[in-house]
Amino acid sequence: MEPAQLERTPFADLDRTPPAMLAMLVAALEAMSRHPEIRRVRHTAWEALRPAPGQRLLDAGCGTGDVARELAAAVAPGGAVVALDRSEATLAAARERHQGGEISYVAGDIGALDLADESFDGVWCERVLQHVDDPGRAIAELARVTRTGGRVCLVDTDWTSLAFDGVDSALARAVIEHARGPLTPVQDDLGRTLRRRLLDHGLCDVTATPVTCYFPDPASAAVVLPMINAGVPEETWKAPAGLRAAWLDQVRAAGERGDFLAVLTIWVVCGTV
Ligand SMILES: C[S@@+](CC[C@H](N)C(=O)[O-])C[C@H]1O[C@@H](n2cnc3c(N)ncnc32)[C@H](O)[C@@H]1O
Repeated sequence: MEPAQLERTPFADLDRTPPAMLAMLVAALEAMSRHPEIRRVRHTAWEALRPAPGQRLLDAGCGTGDVARELAAAVAPGGAVVALDRSEATLAAARERHQGGEISYVAGDIGALDLADESFDGVWCERVLQHVDDPGRAIAELARVTRTGGRVCLVDTDWTSLAFDGVDSALARAVIEHARGPLTPVQDDLGRTLRRRLLDHGLCDVTATPVTCYFPDPASAAVVLPMINAGVPEETWKAPAGLRAAWLDQVRAAGERGDFLAVLTIWVVCGTV
């Protein structure tokens, strides 16, 4: 049984996001792609999926297509990538950034894929399942479209692992609690459940690697953690008056003193169908 989703971050339905916010989120996805800690997570996933020339791969929930472009280079010659996302706006951004390579950009819902059984050698699905209502159903779909012997690679955050130092700990706890829903997914433990979910679906050779991302200053943290990013508008927070301002003051002061710290674990879990 999946938990009821009462409130969703904008990533759950980007096409209903106002244009200014959408532009911010697209820029945020690109900044995350460049972040060394996200690069480290992706390197772990890359080693687990082992993309190779000639393969047909699915990037499920491709966002702006940064990973799809890298996968397309890895499967050449002879291979191809399907970059799928629910959001037409995000797909448009991915198409604009296309740099060659065999990539088809496809609109679709990860929970009900209009793709044939066993039509892929492998699947990459990064930081998507935390935003869907029924991750179990989505994983079943990803396994269905992967051929026997192919690999499914899931990358997702464990938001309950988020921790700070250098700031008031009670205030940090209050912010983490208030962020759950408007800024971070309600489904905040998804990363650590992925290994069990792949085992439950009968996948074999399941590997699970928790990658703890380390942010030693507010600028580095703000790229990945929305509650550190002063550019996230106050109305998005939906927090009690004063909480955001008090918190961002603390974060700024900790940064100036040089003792700000944040950590967040992102799981890389891969299995063979
Ligand atoms: C946080 S972004 C991650 C994008 C990309 N995988 C990355 O790591 O840069 C989440 C993406 O999942 C997409 N998404 C959310 N729900 C989806 C669904 N049900 N089916 C397909 N894509 C979905 C969003 O539109 C968004 O592009």
